Amino acid sequence: MGAQQVREGFAALYGAEPEGVWSAPGRVNLIGEHTDYNDGFVMPFALPHVATAAVSRRTDGVLRLHSGDVEGGVVELRLDDLAPESDRNWTAYPAGVVWALREAGHAVTGADVHLASTVPSGAGLSSSAALEVVIALALNDLYGLGLQRWQLARLCQRAENVYVGAPTGIMDQTASACCEEGHALFLDTRDLSQQQIPFDLAAEGMRLLVVDTQVKHAHSEGEYGKRRAGCERGAALLGVDALRDIPYADLDEALARLGDDEEAVRLVRHVVTEDERVEKTVALLRSGETRAIGPVLIEGHASLRDDFRISCPELDLVVDTALASGALGARMTGGGFGGSAIVLAEAADVDTITKAVEEAFASGGHTAPRVFEAVPSAGARRVS
Ligand code: GLA
Repeated sequence: MGAQQVREGFAALYGAEPEGVWSAPGRVNLIGEHTDYNDGFVMPFALPHVATAAVSRRTDGVLRLHSGDVEGGVVELRLDDLAPESDRNWTAYPAGVVWALREAGHAVTGADVHLASTVPSGAGLSSSAALEVVIALALNDLYGLGLQRWQLARLCQRAENVYVGAPTGIMDQTASACCEEGHALFLDTRDLSQQQIPFDLAAEGMRLLVVDTQVKHAHSEGEYGKRRAGCERGAALLGVDALRDIPYADLDEALARLGDDEEAVRLVRHVVTEDERVEKTVALLRSGETRAIGPVLIEGHASLRDDFRISCPELDLVVDTALASGALGARMTGGGFGGSAIVLAEAADVDTITKAVEEAFASGGHTAPRVFEAVPSAGARRVS
């Protein structure tokens, strides 16, 4: 859905033109999984799929929300009534952002919003972060709040953690707010320092496919929280603030200190080696050895499957089939237990790999996956 349609949708609903239209993308993570709540490194890039919002200010303490993607009419909320974990619908994401802005002392007095999104939901591609960031950016512009992109990301994370009640890290919101076209974002989640790393696979004859398995296992949210708590326990056992503080060179010694605490050993090993894989990926991309990131992605998947234990049969099937059909690398991406995998491949092999994955899903009795090429796209912006 284009910006013009969202603008027209707003005018039809609310009887006036919006003050502006903004968009914010979903993301895919190249490498650095489950490191963001350990103060570690991540490397996402923005997808061309975006949430688009037409927005106008109000002065009467009312928030009106409407989504073109969801059945139902305009939802009207009073700002004074917004309360954490009171809403289990899609409206919790935009309302949570308004709540977080006001809680941080920003004088937001209301808004009319009409939204539409092309980010697949439930696919691990950050459709919720896109919804949050598009609202945060729109209100930042309209109310002249002067917040920087990283500050908007932090507020959106607070909306997600406290208002929605999901204990996620900072990666998705920062990716949506800060990514740049043609680049992957090398982000240090401890201080939010960022480096834009040129990532133009097409120029080098390669492609990156996203394979959305279209499955989301029901226990995914509970398991996410358990992994997060397990990592925090690991850090406490090792006497550090966060697992980020264990240098890769000290990993063996740290694991020895954990002794036969197999659960802690596995979680710590994943996080510390994953941070190392992000740094390795950045170094390889900087030195132009792009094909050499393939094995790093493969190792990342093995670590998420065997040590972190958050893969699932469908994600493993994508990875195994893609690699058997000539992919340079492949791994699950995002929170795990369903969602999407990424496949790095020579352009010439894309059709063969796609067909092989589709056939493997059909013969395994799984729902057909959705496969598309991911091109590093722009971060959140005002579109009109
Ligand atoms: C989800 C969370 C992120 C991050 C990833 C795993 O996408 O929202 O904060 O933890 O899982 O890397």
